[in-house]
Amino acid sequence: MKPTRRSWAEPFKIKVVEPVRLTTPEQRLRAIQEAGYNTFLLRSEDVYIDLLTDSGTSAMSDRQWAGMMLGDEAYAGSRNFYHLEEMVQKYYGYKYLIPTHQGRGAEHIVSRVLIQPGDVIPGNMYFTTTRLHQELAGGRFEDVIIAEAHDPASEHPFKGDIDLDKLAALIREHGRERIPYVSVAATVNMAGGQPISLANLQAVRELTARHGIRIILDATRVAENAYFIQQREPGQQGRSIASIVMQICSLTDGCTMSAKKDALVNIGGFLGLNDQDVFEEARNLVVVYEGLHTYGGMAGRDMEAVAVGIEESLDDDHIRARVGQVLYLGGKMREWGIPIVLPIGGHGVFIDARSFLPHLPQEQYPAQALASAIYLDSGVRTMERGIVSAGRNKETGQENKPRLELVRLTIPRRVYTQAHMDVVAESVLSVFEGRAAVRGLRMVYEPRYLRFFQARFEPL
Ligand code: F0G
Repeated sequence: MKPTRRSWAEPFKIKVVEPVRLTTPEQRLRAIQEAGYNTFLLRSEDVYIDLLTDSGTSAMSDRQWAGMMLGDEAYAGSRNFYHLEEMVQKYYGYKYLIPTHQGRGAEHIVSRVLIQPGDVIPGNMYFTTTRLHQELAGGRFEDVIIAEAHDPASEHPFKGDIDLDKLAALIREHGRERIPYVSVAATVNMAGGQPISLANLQAVRELTARHGIRIILDATRVAENAYFIQQREPGQQGRSIASIVMQICSLTDGCTMSAKKDALVNIGGFLGLNDQDVFEEARNLVVVYEGLHTYGGMAGRDMEAVAVGIEESLDDDHIRARVGQVLYLGGKMREWGIPIVLPIGGHGVFIDARSFLPHLPQEQYPAQALASAIYLDSGVRTMERGIVSAGRNKETGQENKPRLELVRLTIPRRVYTQAHMDVVAESVLSVFEGRAAVRGLRMVYEPRYLRFFQARFEPL
């Protein structure tokens, strides 16, 4: 019989492999107990399929590895810096480049340069490190994402959009004097990898331009955002990913970038800027906190891998396969009735832990408990993105209680096959069938900053 549809496959073949280890249920129980029921504290040796994060976990291409051999490890003026600068200018369009060791290094610098104590920074949902750096600089983050973003079942195509009324109200209340910039993330991580539309970003640009307020883009997953614009936004079909990315960046004044995601490297990041005075101040600070302004904490070879990775990340076939794999996994889980955030996101599938474990109140850390249960079932490692990640209110010390209580199954780029995705989906289904037996947790150790990384728990 003739097939009714034609499949397509990854636009690469595998040249090097890394064996992974299968574990027994007893080994996994011991491992998760030793890790204090926190998947961040597991040893990667004890993990079978690692969906903790898509950050720094990509498989590099042969061209990137070849580039690593061309590392110019001069302390100052490495040729790899100039190559990276050229790629940032060519593909993102920012005039000035400040390299940093990873995304949070760029967030630190830009927050210190632009934020004064008492400032308010509006943004489309917080990200953990971004918000913390804004707070450490004396600012306060205000969420202005559209309401649909907080509803896992809403199928709004652009749940990363900004609520323009909320933003306008904040500007009326605080004025441009207290709002140094709007913090706009492309594919909003904490909302489930949800994109912002070009039309919304254009409207935000018009509004902020009227008040002389900057926009700083979190470009970490901007290529994935561009893919959703190409697929979903009226009038954008047929455009290349590269041209959409360039347009997104052109609507902003600068960006922070964790190259560990879109740009397909294991370490690296940067700050892209257009204003000369902001650039000069950032260049003064980078030498204090990161490294000289022509390496910023990266080796020459790392900068070369980023330079090559940027180009590869904007290839239309690459991005279709990358997001396509996430959609494949999410599609299976959705078909089986497992509650996930819809639409399926760009970098991972996010399970709605409230609906999955309705018997657990938020105080018992349902998403943390679910991540442990999935690990125990199959050795698949996932990440909590709920009340533990949300931390405490800076002023009151109370736990922030986000509406979204999620477990993130994040797909590394170019690393796993479709068969791995099948194994993952089947494991989640098996936990779903036995979900009544999943118990809540209590926190027994809580670090002061970014507690989710190192907190420890015990089953109730
Ligand atoms: N912005 C976003 C949207 C991110 O997802 C991350 C990192 C950063 C900034 C910070 O970049 O890690 O290079 O310092 N996200 C990782 C994750 C950790 O697992 O989602 P970084």
